[in-house]
Amino acid sequence: MIAYGSAGETLARATANILGHGVLNIKRRLFPDGEQYLKLSGDFESGAAAVFQPLFPSPDSLFMELALIADALKGAGCKEVIGVLPYIAYLRQDERFMAGEPLSAKLIARLIEAVGIDRLIAVDMHLHRYSHAKDLFRIEARNISAMALLAEYYRKKHPESDPLVVGPDAESRQWASVVASILKAECIVLEKERLGDREVKISKISGISGREVVVVDDMVSTGKTLAEVISQLKSEGASRVDALVSHALLVEDAYRSLKLAGLGDLIASDTIPSRHSSVSVAPLIAEELKGMLR
Ligand code: R5P
Repeated sequence: MIAYGSAGETLARATANILGHGVLNIKRRLFPDGEQYLKLSGDFESGAAAVFQPLFPSPDSLFMELALIADALKGAGCKEVIGVLPYIAYLRQDERFMAGEPLSAKLIARLIEAVGIDRLIAVDMHLHRYSHAKDLFRIEARNISAMALLAEYYRKKHPESDPLVVGPDAESRQWASVVASILKAECIVLEKERLGDREVKISKISGISGREVVVVDDMVSTGKTLAEVISQLKSEGASRVDALVSHALLVEDAYRSLKLAGLGDLIASDTIPSRHSSVSVAPLIAEELKGMLR
């Protein structure tokens, strides 16, 4: 069975099409006090169900909806619920940076398990201080990557390009190096200091005059990280700067600030569907689900 929460419809339907499955119908409404209500309808099977729900744009209520769906599936006799969470929020707070802070990354992992998700598929989880999904999750958690697909898309679009691949910060090395190896390109990883939610400082880069550059990151949220890198690359003479990201959150006027900084194309996957979703991760998820249910 394939079910989806409010943010997961596009990817759930695309994956269901590949697998030749239907999707479960869920009726949803809000109680007058703001609580969510839902009800599954259709024919239930007792086997496994996959629930699609990226935790964006409103992570907290989408998570609650995921919990309600998982509980409803279990209540309807489903033996196993596979959470397909293409984007998992809260993973960037992977340390108590200051006294009094929560360790959100561990907490979201515990919560996902607690609401009845038995196995998990995620895409390019923000893994940094916890470097593997198994360091965060006690359940089986598969972390698949959109980076190869994004790189192949770029290659088709720019067959002649010999780009420099740039990662904005230490954690981006894991994604930038995959792209660089597919493009057979040089890869540089910069250093980033975060000064606030909307302010970052990026280390200097030089010797790139006339070069085409591809900036690679797992996600773009406010766009400040990418905008800062792009401005610097352009002022150092880069001839063109494109960006490859798995998760295009693009909050507030992020896309505008990227274009103002001099961005060429933003090439993103459909973990969070948008007009920038040039690449679909549905075939990867379908393969993973087939493997899990074999
Ligand atoms: C953090 O390290 C992530 O990999 C991204 O670089 C960051 O979350 C992007 O955020 P923003 O677009 O708000 O700068």
